[in-house]
Amino acid sequence: MERTFVMIKPDAVQRGLIGEIIHRFERRGLKIVAMKFMHVSEELAAKHYAAHKEKPFYRDLIDYITSGPVVAMVLEGTGAIATARTTMGATNPAQAAPGTIRADFSLEIGRNIVHGSDGEESAAAEIGLWFGDDIPGWERNTDKWIFE
Ligand code: PPS
Repeated sequence: MERTFVMIKPDAVQRGLIGEIIHRFERRGLKIVAMKFMHVSEELAAKHYAAHKEKPFYRDLIDYITSGPVVAMVLEGTGAIATARTTMGATNPAQAAPGTIRADFSLEIGRNIVHGSDGEESAAAEIGLWFGDDIPGWERNTDKWIFE
């Protein structure tokens, strides 16, 4: 069963969208196996976005993600990485399909309200960075109705 890392960013927390966003992932069938409400340190932000260090928007991205509390979580399910990303929509909300989280709740790439790992390698690295590698699984009553 695949796992992915998802973060509800500071703008979504400030706007009272935590429940709405989690609801969409849960409703899709993705299972929460870890979750925490936290402030992101400069150090953690730098590690998380290390691949973008040379990008022109890097400083803005670090300022944004450290500007207030976030909700970090690990979601599990069939094809969880891709499924979480299609539920979120395109990185730039202007290009996100209607019905996705980003299209429905955001307008600009620098305030795109949610992050999700973009592949197997980043999912493993981000889960390790934010939660360590010891995440116990749990059996959900509905698992057999959602996972074949
Ligand atoms: S890139 O250039 O293709 O590698 O960028 P991308 O993978 O699309 O995005 C990487 C993360 O940077 C954020 N981003 C931005 N933030 C602020 N301003 C601008 N212009 C901008 N462009 C990209 C983008 O939201 C990605 O962060 P996450 O947390 O994954 O959404």
